[in-house]
Amino acid sequence: MAKPLVLVTRRIPEPALAYLARRCRVRLHAPDRPMTRAELRSQIRDVDGLLCTPVDRIDRWILRAAPRLRGIANCAVGVDNLDLEEARRLGLPVSNTPGVLSAATADLTWALILAVLRRVVEGDRLIRAGGFPGWSPTFHLGHSLQGKTLGILGMGRIGREVARRATAFSMQTIYWSRTRLPGRVGASGPRYRPLRRLLAASDVLTIHLPGGPSTRGLLGARELALLKPGAVLINTARGEIVVESALVAALRSGKLFGAGLDVYPHEPRVPRPLLAMPNVVLLPHIGSATVETRQAMAMMAAVNLVDMLDGRKPPNPVRLSPRR
Ligand code: GLV
Repeated sequence: MAKPLVLVTRRIPEPALAYLARRCRVRLHAPDRPMTRAELRSQIRDVDGLLCTPVDRIDRWILRAAPRLRGIANCAVGVDNLDLEEARRLGLPVSNTPGVLSAATADLTWALILAVLRRVVEGDRLIRAGGFPGWSPTFHLGHSLQGKTLGILGMGRIGREVARRATAFSMQTIYWSRTRLPGRVGASGPRYRPLRRLLAASDVLTIHLPGGPSTRGLLGARELALLKPGAVLINTARGEIVVESALVAALRSGKLFGAGLDVYPHEPRVPRPLLAMPNVVLLPHIGSATVETRQAMAMMAAVNLVDMLDGRKPPNPVRLSPRR
């Protein structure tokens, strides 16, 4: 029997490509840029499997052009780039890469928390611009982490990893999640708070929710107004969760001490007003970008795809039935 044909939309780290190549015929989009919509639609026509990334929007228009497709492996934990409803309708199994990127994303979240509170990037820029006046009791003051309250929006795998690290910094942790967890998360773990109370109590608010219609615009002007004056907002989840204009206004007015962002509503575009704000640390969507993590994600996606093409349930299926 001929090996199945799979489309890999972007070069992925080894050994995942080699694993796929032993089991499938691989059509790799080799240029190091995202496929255009037209390329995707034309190259998906005759494939049995798809390995895609968060920048590939796999919607009805694309899926309807792929009559042979038998499985989609997203090389990401988030699946907001996929039309899951259409996949369900077409009976197409979908997988993602949960777990393997939680620690790396939590680490980057802490890099942003520290960078904003201690004004790390600002300090580096100042040095390079020749602006270091020497030690002074009042120079370049940030804020301490110890004793502050960390509000975690979303207590999934990444939220929990972020919470675990908070104890090392002696912060109090509270969380809000769409599903309230039974009891406390661990002996000294975060306590649940309703959303509005969590916003009002957090010195640092960090977002770890999935993207998509259920969380889009969750934090708008009304919600940001509930934050403490001088709070810090960190987002390593999805840009669309925070209303861009509301965030810019909260920073401009001085309501927020600063923000640390790894994600934006319309990537790769970064909201222009943020570029001029020294108290905002901007990263280029690199939450999972470590060699080890990307290798693990790619391998996980490849294994999932081969299993789907062999007619097996993949190790990391995405639930497609509507929530009840
Ligand atoms: C990256 O953003 C992911 O969802 O894995």
